[in-house]
Amino acid sequence: MATPMESLALATDSDDVVFLMVPFPAQSHLNQLLRLSHLIRSRGFPVHYAATAVHCRQAKLRHENDTLLLNTSGITFHELPTPPFNSPPPSEPYSFVKFPQHLWPSFEASLNLRQPVAALLRELSSSSSVDTTTTRTRRLVVIHDYMMSYVVQDVASVPNAESYSFDCGSTFCNFSLTCQFSGKPFPVAQLEPEAIPTLDNCTIPEFTKLFVIQTQFNHLSHGKLFNTCRPIEVPYLDLLADAAVDNNNNNKQWAIAPTPLLPAVTANHHPTLEWLDKQPPRSVIYVSFGSLTTMSQQQVNELALGLEESKQRFLWVLRDADRVDIFNAESTILQLPEGFEERVKGLGKVTRDWAPQLGILRHPSVGGFMSHCGWNSCLESLTMGVPLATWPMHSDQPYNALLITHILKVGVPVIGWGERDELVTSSAIKKSIESLMASSDEGHAVRTRAEELSKVIKQSAEDNDNELDSFLAYAAR
Ligand SMILES: *[C@@H]1O[C@H](CO)[C@@H](O)[C@H](O)[C@H]1NC(C)=O
Ligand SMILES: *[C@@H]1O[C@H](CO)[C@@H](O)[C@H](O)[C@H]1NC(C)=O
Ligand SMILES: *[C@@H]1O[C@H](CO)[C@@H](O)[C@H](O)[C@H]1NC(C)=O
Ligand SMILES: *[C@@H]1O[C@H](CO)[C@@H](O)[C@H](O)[C@H]1NC(C)=O
Repeated sequence: MATPMESLALATDSDDVVFLMVPFPAQSHLNQLLRLSHLIRSRGFPVHYAATAVHCRQAKLRHENDTLLLNTSGITFHELPTPPFNSPPPSEPYSFVKFPQHLWPSFEASLNLRQPVAALLRELSSSSSVDTTTTRTRRLVVIHDYMMSYVVQDVASVPNAESYSFDCGSTFCNFSLTCQFSGKPFPVAQLEPEAIPTLDNCTIPEFTKLFVIQTQFNHLSHGKLFNTCRPIEVPYLDLLADAAVDNNNNNKQWAIAPTPLLPAVTANHHPTLEWLDKQPPRSVIYVSFGSLTTMSQQQVNELALGLEESKQRFLWVLRDADRVDIFNAESTILQLPEGFEERVKGLGKVTRDWAPQLGILRHPSVGGFMSHCGWNSCLESLTMGVPLATWPMHSDQPYNALLITHILKVGVPVIGWGERDELVTSSAIKKSIESLMASSDEGHAVRTRAEELSKVIKQSAEDNDNELDSFLAYAAR
């Protein structure tokens, strides 16, 4: 088998297929497409990545801090011009809908990227330069977030270009929404129909409208890419393929989760990892709600109390939601209850930094993950065999939480989606931590299933690589 460097050398000599990635401007979306860029680059293809200047910078910075594997050299970044947009602080954390409305200015401004992307399409469709090598382009392959379908629409007028839409979320969510939009029943036996969330309270009406705009350009995409792997979501991949056939739509699809199975390197010596080194195996619950969750001070107090009362070890990432411009934002200082850090000393650690999540999840001391259930967090946790305590906030998270607790049964709920408007009490938090971490039949069963699923995911990593390679072979045909 060729090493990545050998295949790199082979491909740059002979290849004239160029990839352009067009991400949606939110952390998990930027990150997924950058990981995929890295994998495609390691197969030897020239890769270009286009976003606004601030989002290129954000993606690179957090990517490089993520793990050692991720070296962006050889990927060409294009900073697209946009009119300036506001970067307000996160809105009132008590608000009914927890969707990060404060990012709306940049989501809305993303529509302005159509012209600069069209210009880039024309440029890259004739030639592409990476480092010092210039190639004439035989085919330009555009991989875009499905929330950027409007922006890449001019691909239709570039004869040697083809586009593929990429879904950063779970296929389970995609399939349940597809059923909701088409009015078809949702054929998943493990769930009562009323348990399935509706889009209404997962997002804001403006965002739903933006989504509907994108769907008008779905027919332009040559195939669909799903950020998942078969052991986790095969039923929904198959159902989506069947639904596409039924509707006479294009059913070319590939499940190409950039599985976070890195060689045995951990992120740099981060204080959180050093602290974990000193804890017993599987004893720590990692608590983090991703980059787009804002909690009220009252909710932070309950969480602190719940963690303390559970008497379990914990590593808690306490952060505000990202702003549009992460480089130009004062973060709100959420307070911990008085004396908290003193009382939990030795048992718990709180960090306010951007944490090396993958390094944490695969640390042997970590035995559980209390999570908002962003899809990236779910994928990483499932791959590492860490069971979850689910606390969904918005977007696809309530769907992902159901998949974890009710279908895969590798997690316990902190709250059900029906309770989302209430304050989550310290006793509910304590109860979920205990059932996940302390010795109980339920906890044991959940942990065992998570370990088994992780084995299957790791075994299938090779197949998944094959699925990426089969996509690349098709795209470069
Ligand atoms: C990144 O990769 C390039 C070659 O692909 C190499 O020259 C460079 O040293 C790498 N950088 C880091 C930080 O590992
Ligand atoms: C499902 O994913 C495909 C592929 O990215 C996308 O085109 C489609 O709009 C998504 N549908 C929903 C309902 O999320
Ligand atoms: C969604 O939230 C609104 C308030 O913003 C509420 O009136 C409505 O009942 C909620 N809908 C559902 C389906 O929960
Ligand atoms: C990345 O790591 C460096 C060194 O540990 C740190 O100074 C920087 O703040 C980190 N970046 C982010 C986005 O957290």
